[in-house]
Amino acid sequence: MAEVTPIIIDTDPGQDDAVAILLALASPEIDVLGITAVAGNVPLRLTEKNARKICELAGRPDIKVFSGAIRPMVRNLVTAEEVHGKTGLNGPELPDPKMPLQDQYAVDFIVETLMREESGTVTLCALGPLTNIAQALIREPKIAPRIKQLVLMGGGFFEGGNVTPTAEFNIYVDPHAADVVLKSGIQITMMPLDCTHKALTTAKRTASFRNLGSKVGVAVADMLEFFERFDEQKYGTDGGPLHDPCVIAWLLKPELFEGRNINVTVETASELTMGMTVADWWGVTKRPKNVTYMRDIDHEGFFNLLVERLGRL
Ligand code: RIB
Ligand code: CA
Repeated sequence: MAEVTPIIIDTDPGQDDAVAILLALASPEIDVLGITAVAGNVPLRLTEKNARKICELAGRPDIKVFSGAIRPMVRNLVTAEEVHGKTGLNGPELPDPKMPLQDQYAVDFIVETLMREESGTVTLCALGPLTNIAQALIREPKIAPRIKQLVLMGGGFFEGGNVTPTAEFNIYVDPHAADVVLKSGIQITMMPLDCTHKALTTAKRTASFRNLGSKVGVAVADMLEFFERFDEQKYGTDGGPLHDPCVIAWLLKPELFEGRNINVTVETASELTMGMTVADWWGVTKRPKNVTYMRDIDHEGFFNLLVERLGRL
């Protein structure tokens, strides 16, 4: 058996977050120590509920779900109901969760877990704005060298932005948190729009989830059919980009992705380019190479992995 990787998933579900969480829960190589909810796609009171709905859909009411930051560190919260629907998980009808929300604040859970677990063993997977991660680094700087790595979905450069012409949503919502994380010195692997926009949920791929015939397969197909319509209209594509599962897929099959170590710096001053991730792909600055920046994906292999793994739930 491959080595088991303990992870914490920080998330703002979100249909694509949901597929990422299901992929993690379906994979024996991954041990989900906890799921921390953050405000993002929809307000916190919904993301923390959606995270529990997804755990119950996966048959995992044992997973610990924590509630975290209700708003970004400095700026006001910007949400994305136009993409994800009012509930943040529009598409399938999922019952309200019965499993409890943990009492502990998400940031305290992240700090406590990293200080308790063996140093260098826990991977953080960030699928939403980086508010919880940044606050944990500020609350206890000693966690930085203890984090094995942070794998995050966020940013974009060659592809531009998806919420402004220059900024991707997760970074745009909390650019100050992203700045703290990018300057923290931790090992970061980034899944930007340059990569995730190549992973489109075509009708054929969505049908392969539905054809699993399971509760999970049908629910995922319903989620994707709702979630993709916004980007299909915007980009004129067959299907929309399935962003967040790229983070978990990289842990399972890194060979599906291609990128390089570069500097990424985020704009936190100019309103015009607020939240822009400036990727020094050609190494023209002397700025430290703080990120492994993924730019390409074997999207066929990615969807084959998703269908195979979700078929196990
Ligand atoms: O820009 C895409 C990202 O923003 C994804 O994580 C999606 O879930 C939203 O949070
Ligand atoms: Ca997300």
